[in-house]
Amino acid sequence: MALPQEFLMELKYRNDIESVLSPFIALKRRGSNLVGLCPFHNEKTPSFTVYPESGSYYCYGCGQGGDIITFTMKMENLDYIDAVRRLADKAGLRMPEDGKDDKEARLKKDIYECNSEAGRFFHQVLMSPQGKSGLDYFLGRGLSISTIKRFGLGFAPDDWHALENHLRSKGFSDYVISMADLTGKSEKKDKNGRNFTYDRFRNRIMFPIINIHGKVIGFSGRAMPGNEKQGGKYINTSDTPVYKKSHNMFALNFAKSDCSKQAILVEGNMDVIALHQAGFTTAVAALGTSFTEEQARLLARYTKEVVLTMDADSAGEKATDRAISILESVGVDIKVLRLPDCKDPDEFIKKHGNNKFQHLIDNAMTALEYKLVVAARGIDLTATDGKLKYLNKACEVLAALKDPIAVELYTGKLSAKYGVSKEQLQSIIKNAENKNYRFQTKRELQEITAPKLEKNPVNPQREQFKRAAAAEEAVISIMAKHPDMLEYIKSKIDVSDFLTDFNKKVFQRVCEILETGHSFDLVLLGDGFTPEQVAYITKLLTVNADVENAKQVLEDSISVILEEKNAAENPDVSSLDDAAWAEAMAKLSKEKKKNGPK
Ligand code: CTP
Ligand code: MN
Repeated sequence: MALPQEFLMELKYRNDIESVLSPFIALKRRGSNLVGLCPFHNEKTPSFTVYPESGSYYCYGCGQGGDIITFTMKMENLDYIDAVRRLADKAGLRMPEDGKDDKEARLKKDIYECNSEAGRFFHQVLMSPQGKSGLDYFLGRGLSISTIKRFGLGFAPDDWHALENHLRSKGFSDYVISMADLTGKSEKKDKNGRNFTYDRFRNRIMFPIINIHGKVIGFSGRAMPGNEKQGGKYINTSDTPVYKKSHNMFALNFAKSDCSKQAILVEGNMDVIALHQAGFTTAVAALGTSFTEEQARLLARYTKEVVLTMDADSAGEKATDRAISILESVGVDIKVLRLPDCKDPDEFIKKHGNNKFQHLIDNAMTALEYKLVVAARGIDLTATDGKLKYLNKACEVLAALKDPIAVELYTGKLSAKYGVSKEQLQSIIKNAENKNYRFQTKRELQEITAPKLEKNPVNPQREQFKRAAAAEEAVISIMAKHPDMLEYIKSKIDVSDFLTDFNKKVFQRVCEILETGHSFDLVLLGDGFTPEQVAYITKLLTVNADVENAKQVLEDSISVILEEKNAAENPDVSSLDDAAWAEAMAKLSKEKKKNGPK
């Protein structure tokens, strides 16, 4: 373990869980615990529970859970060590220097430097005779030299090793270059038996991706016109130790200081750059993924309102629908801008100019207006049954609204437009509201009552070894709560008696912690577990927290573990199906032959 336990415990005591969570969630006391609306999924009744005593939280709606570290990782979009660093900074604690962290931190630092050098290289090539085709392309799309410089745009030469050789000459190791995902490995091997490597980005115009701290974390490379079929229109850096594309936004480094009131979300890198050049410096894009919840949360840290300005095609419509539901769940206001007669914002600006675009922003639809437009998709509004269908759908949209004044207002509008009485519409809305309410309650109830543990992909063997897994979990949680029972437990069972690999790993880790003389604490788990795994552990500890008569439960659980292990090793032939039975018999006879007759 890299971080000393004393440090982690100190970190925990200096950052009590309430103070870490409360900037993000309104918490209310319930008994000795706190509850609030889960920040990780959309809900109307609180299922997010905080346990101040153990310094943990668990959401019974979506299964997220953990401690101050997992929460900070999720909420602030950080990896383990950076989350710890953030909490340490907040509490005025110094990070301990340690071998393993150093190694990890050094690799990241090397990758950042390598990326930054690659960015410089691509930019220099673009500005040299070798990059003329790339520069001509950018200029042809209306970018000025100063925009090209500001965004650090570049060109990757049409060469299999140009970047690799350059980076090697600057002293970067092959390992760092490949960890930065700048080279790929071919199947072919050289005379030393090593796979050949090659530049991933070739003959492409290059967009560096820069994080909010101003560091180059990856690249997006667009094929030259006419070559889009070769290797794809865009090649993007895959996830690396410093880059997760679903967690970052293109150009947020520039937009973040201007966008507190409003940001513009577009689909393409070129759209972003064209908008910035035209003075719309709050434009960002989703880096070629469909917009994710992490990106929404990241945006929500910098802005109150997002104007969705997706391409005017069916993919853009889908992207808009998706972005709306994600942004609603993180509580950002939404506007939807639709581009008349142009496929994307880049084209619009060129054709109609800045003022017209500003006008579109000022007159963008609210999310509600947009949903009413969507409700009319594919419906012939001139036909009577089309109108009927539309009004029903529109009422469903209104029924989902929280604001009664908006409902009132739009009911009036629809009534006037379609010649149907307001009362009639109100009764349809009422019905839809009841249906929504029943649906929502049922879903939340299901989520609360259906034990998430069983479906959890964290321990996929749980389905197969239900009885054993439940017993393993009971042992783990009793042990975590009663460290004095460790010796006893170890005298009865061993990690090899566990049937499910995940519980094995947890058991081992809890033993390690207790063996140092500490009592167990979630923060001591360290970075060997993902947030999902920590959530699972939190849940299993919470579920088993209040067992009465721990000693008896422990005895029973140990018996079950041993029984189940024995059963798994010596399957009961009477319960086997034909094929399994034949297999067991064959094994047996082979065994007998080997050992000879008794
Ligand atoms: N994208 C991607 N992979 C692809 C296609 C697109 O990652 N094969 C991402 C890129 O980030 C791109 C965005 O999706 O910027 C939007 O795609 P598209 O509209 O096709 O590209 P534009 O950036 O608008 O490029 P252009 O205007 O040059 O056609
Ligand atoms: Mn485009």
